[in-house]
Amino acid sequence: MIGAKVSLKKAEEVKKFIINKGLLLNDYWMVRLKNGVIFPVKKKFEKTNVEFVSRVFKKIEKRQNWKQILKKKLSKKEFDILKTAHDVVGSIAILEIPDELKKKEKLIAETLLKANKNVKTVLKKAGEHSGTFRTQKMKWLAGEKTKETIHKENNVRLKVNVKEIYFSARLSTERKRIMKQIRRGVKILVMFSGCAPYPCVFSKNTDAYKIVGIEINPKAHRYAEENVRINKLNNVELILGDVKKVVPNLKERFDRICMPLPRGGENFLKEALMVSKKNTVIHFYDFLHKTEFDKAEEKVKKACDKTNIKCKFLDFVKCGQYSPGKYRICLDFRVIAGI
Ligand SMILES: C[S@@+](CC[C@H](N)C(=O)[O-])C[C@H]1O[C@@H](n2cnc3c(N)ncnc32)[C@H](O)[C@@H]1O
Repeated sequence: MIGAKVSLKKAEEVKKFIINKGLLLNDYWMVRLKNGVIFPVKKKFEKTNVEFVSRVFKKIEKRQNWKQILKKKLSKKEFDILKTAHDVVGSIAILEIPDELKKKEKLIAETLLKANKNVKTVLKKAGEHSGTFRTQKMKWLAGEKTKETIHKENNVRLKVNVKEIYFSARLSTERKRIMKQIRRGVKILVMFSGCAPYPCVFSKNTDAYKIVGIEINPKAHRYAEENVRINKLNNVELILGDVKKVVPNLKERFDRICMPLPRGGENFLKEALMVSKKNTVIHFYDFLHKTEFDKAEEKVKKACDKTNIKCKFLDFVKCGQYSPGKYRICLDFRVIAGI
């Protein structure tokens, strides 16, 4: 094979030239030398600073997309009903497999495992999120037999157990959205903090003074404590308990309050308002169908009216789809008077 050898200084310029002329052998790795590189090329060409050498190059192994592989292994009918969208939390892939494909679930999982080198375990959702802890049953299908992993998002590492606690990797964009609004020196309350993804992301990426998280699931609380340690954070305080009981005993008020409990979150608006002050911003989550989006404002208004608090609605965002037509939404509002 022909190699085009160049010094490190000229490597970028020569690489551009080779690519533009269509001379690069795309399927082979280039070779890095101490002071230069050797590009695999189709033929010799005229260019200063290039020395041609004879060399064997390593082939780039291209992993096939798992959907393409499965298309060949399943019947057309089976492939059409397969839900190929899946979640990846750390090294765990979580699939949704329709009942009609139960007999093929191992094959599907093993195909996904082989095709994605970052995936070490494949699980299947075996139920909906349920109960106070909002956990979801999982069935192991392939790879390492574990439900625990380290997930990276927004500059933090989060240790999670996808069966024992609630965690959604899909909410990273929403966490970033709020993170960007956080000003220096503020106090933040995260109700329903789970394994602390919101507190960790806020603490790591902002100059907040303090972040308090409240979580009722003891296992999630333990993971939260570990995540604060893993990320070396020193302004996060975690409280194990029920928001209803903990908040009335808090001796402080907050500049920003997150309420990431979309199912039934309105039952805790009273507690959020209890520890608000003038200008506190509250992020209220809900699951709503697109035909009933105005219900979010109604719920907030009702809670504010009960305590004679005035608020101003700031923003309304869709931050995930729950089912056809139904969304996870966040209504941001500011407390403006009555506190
Ligand atoms: C939808 S999950 C969100 C968890 C976390 N904020 C996240 O985004 O990964 C809701 C969390 O609220 C917790 N929870 C439910 N009711 C609670 C309550 N009354 N007080 C404190 N935590 C509660 C659940 O255990 C669960 O971890």
